[in-house]
Amino acid sequence: MWGVSTSAQQIEGAPREAGRTPSTWDVFAAEAGRIKDGGDPSVACDHYHRYREDVALLAGLGVGAYRFSLSWTRVHPDGRGPVNEPGLDFYDRLVDELCAADVRPVPTLFHWDTPLALEERGGWLVRDTAHRFAAYADAVAERLGDRVDMWITINEPAELTLLGYGLGEHAPGKRLLFDALPAAHHQLLGHGLAVQALRARGAHSIGIANSHGPTWAASDAAADRAAAGLYDLLLNRLFAEPVLLGRYPDQGLADAMPGPVAEDLKIIAEPLDWYGVNYYQPTLVGAPGPAADGGSAYAGITIPAELPFSLKEIEGRPRTAFGWPVVPEGLTELLTAFRDRYGDRLPPVHITENGCSYDGIADQARIDFLDGHLRALHRAMEAGVDVRGYFVWSLLDNFEWAEGYAQRFGLVHVDYATLARTPKDSYHWLRDAIRANSRARG
Ligand code: BGC
Repeated sequence: MWGVSTSAQQIEGAPREAGRTPSTWDVFAAEAGRIKDGGDPSVACDHYHRYREDVALLAGLGVGAYRFSLSWTRVHPDGRGPVNEPGLDFYDRLVDELCAADVRPVPTLFHWDTPLALEERGGWLVRDTAHRFAAYADAVAERLGDRVDMWITINEPAELTLLGYGLGEHAPGKRLLFDALPAAHHQLLGHGLAVQALRARGAHSIGIANSHGPTWAASDAAADRAAAGLYDLLLNRLFAEPVLLGRYPDQGLADAMPGPVAEDLKIIAEPLDWYGVNYYQPTLVGAPGPAADGGSAYAGITIPAELPFSLKEIEGRPRTAFGWPVVPEGLTELLTAFRDRYGDRLPPVHITENGCSYDGIADQARIDFLDGHLRALHRAMEAGVDVRGYFVWSLLDNFEWAEGYAQRFGLVHVDYATLARTPKDSYHWLRDAIRANSRARG
C-alpha cells in the first residue's frame, strides 16, 4: 500500500469553524517564544477549506491510501459528549471525497492536539482522558465506519510524553522529566480502549503509529552502552512492549505507572491487525555529561544534564534542512531487530511515516532520501519482515510544531502567503515510482 500522511493540527487551520474549540497546540503556539519562527497553526495550509484540491493532489500522485488525523475538538469541543455534528461533518465530506477519488481513508484519531478542555482537567496525566478518548473513538467510528475500514488510534505517544510533558518543548509545555511517565501509560490505555471501541463498531484493520529508531551507543564503554540501552527502553520498548507483549519492559517503569497497571496492560495489548512505525533517524546516545555542561542539544532540543543520557550528533552523513542525519539502513536495522525481538507477536508492519525536510521545489535531495529508504525497506522485506505499506510524511509543507513553518516536509510546496500548492520534483518522482511498482506487482 502506497500512501502519504498528514495531521489535522499541521494542515487544517479554521480553528473556530463549526464549533471547534482550542487544542493545547493552539494555546501553546500563541505563547511568546514557543514556536521558533513565531508561526501559529491558525491558517496552516487551510486544508479545511481546500481539501478538495488536496484530494485531487492525492489522486494525481496515485497513492492508494491517505493517512490524516481528526481534530478531537471538532468532534468533542468540550472533550466529552455530546458530539458536535457540524465538526464531524468536515471529516464526512473529506472521506466522501477520498472514496470518490479511489483513495483509501486512513484516519488517525489522535495526533497530539489534545482538547484544551481536557488538558485543563489534567490532560494525559489523568486516567479520565483515556476514557474520553475511547468515547471519541466510538463517536467517530459510528459516523465514518461505513466508509473507513483502516484506523490508527494514536500517533507517537513517545513524542508527546517526552517533548510535551517531559521537556516542555511541545504542547502542553510541561517539564516534568520522569514524572511525565503517567502520560505514556494513559495514552497507551486510551489506545487499547479505542481499539475495543473501534472493533465494537466493526472495524477490522486497526493499528497504532509509534515512532521508532535504532539506538546506537556512542562508544563501547559500559556507561555509553547503558545509556543507549536506557534510551532504547524509553523511545522504543516502552511503547512497543505493552502493545505487543502486554507488559512494560522494565519493573521500574511499570512501578512508575498509575492505576491498576496489570489490568490496564490487558487492555493495552488488545491484538492489532498491523503495527505502524514512523521512522526518521537512529539516535546516537552516550552517558550524561557533567551537570555543569548544561545538557546536550539535539535536533534543536536540549536534553537536560540531569537525565541519565546525552544525545550526540551522528557524523559523516548527509543532513536534511532540519539537520537530521540521513541513514536509510537504519530502517532495515530497525525492522529486522523488531522482527527478531518480537517474533510472531509482531503483526504485519506499515511504515506510517518517513520523510525529510528540504527547501525548494527542485528537491533532488528528497528524491534521494525516499529512494534510499524505499530500498532499505525492500531489504527488510527480503529479510522476511512482513511490510504492507509505506506512507510518506508529508503530502504538504505544513506547520512543523515548535519549528513553525521553517521546516518543509511536503511533496507539495505550499506558498504560505497565497496558499498556492505546487507539486515538487519529488511528487512527480514518487508518482512514477508508485506506477512502476504497481505494474511490477501486476
Ligand atoms: C510527527 C509529525 C512531524 C514529523 C516531522 C513526526 O514525529 O508525527 O507530526 O511533522 O515527525 O518532525
